[in-house]
Amino acid sequence: MNLANKRVFITGCNRGMGLAFAERLAVKGCNLNLLVRDPATIDIDHFLGLGARSAIVWQLDLSDRRSIDSFLEEWRSADTAVDVLINNAGFFTAGLIEEQDMDDIYRMLQVNLAGLIHLTHGVLPAMLERGSGKVVNNASISGRNFFPCSSTYAAGKAGVVAFTESIKQELRGTGVSTLLLMTAGVKTDMYDSMEGLFGDKLKLDMVSSVSPEHWANKVVSAIEDDRLTLMPGGFESFILALGRYMPGVLQWAVRRQFNR
Ligand SMILES: NC(=O)c1ccc[n+]([C@@H]2O[C@H](COP(=O)([O-])OP(=O)(O)OC[C@H]3O[C@@H](n4cnc5c(N)ncnc54)[C@H](OP(=O)(O)O)[C@@H]3O)[C@@H](O)[C@H]2O)c1
Repeated sequence: MNLANKRVFITGCNRGMGLAFAERLAVKGCNLNLLVRDPATIDIDHFLGLGARSAIVWQLDLSDRRSIDSFLEEWRSADTAVDVLINNAGFFTAGLIEEQDMDDIYRMLQVNLAGLIHLTHGVLPAMLERGSGKVVNNASISGRNFFPCSSTYAAGKAGVVAFTESIKQELRGTGVSTLLLMTAGVKTDMYDSMEGLFGDKLKLDMVSSVSPEHWANKVVSAIEDDRLTLMPGGFESFILALGRYMPGVLQWAVRRQFNR
């Protein structure tokens, strides 16, 4: 896909990875549609200065089903086509299951999984009618490899993997496609919160990180190359392969790092 002049919708793009995606796509000359909880956190001139053809901010709180419905209603009445939808926004729940807050777990599943499905469900019919479009879902290696202290977050991300792999098959031959991001450590607020949430139970020295800009470059290239999946590369891809083909070995290694 040639991204110049394309209309790209990105959730959670006021900070972290989403911001890096928006900046990279601005450089590519996209028309940015920035979906955020608080529009005051976005400086449109920043993106126009980087080369975006246009930049529009939409208010969207994925933890609230009514907010998603009213965004979709507003978007339909604006009659703006979507070439690429990047479902990026996310919320992290972690720690021993019995110590996690139940309200946080419901909110995380709503933001990370139900909200992502709702938004995709709302936007896909217009893409199918035009016979073109791409849905990019930010999953995680946690959606395939399962570790102590990330049970609920992993359950949500495994749902994102399952949802994306399923619609990938439904969409074959329609001109609309998916890109599944098997994201590993990226140095953002979410990454930095891990140590405080469960660093006393699980040693995190196996976990490394790349910069949001580094990952955004790879993601944007994967969109341009029409890839279906983007793996993290390096040691994290080795961990994914180990989890898939020798899960017992990976669990043994992780058990040695875990102390409840
Ligand atoms: N960082 C990693 O190592 C890593 C690894 C694998 C996968 N991921 C996934 O990558 C995505 C981006 O993560 P990140 O590391 O960039 O996280 P981050 O820095 O914590 O940013 C999270 C983004 O999601 C938005 N968001 C949270 N709750 C929302 C809601 N209810 N409605 C709308 N937006 C909401 C936040 O907006 P506010 O500013 O309004 O809170 C923020 O823009 C997430 O889906 C995450 O699960 C991250």
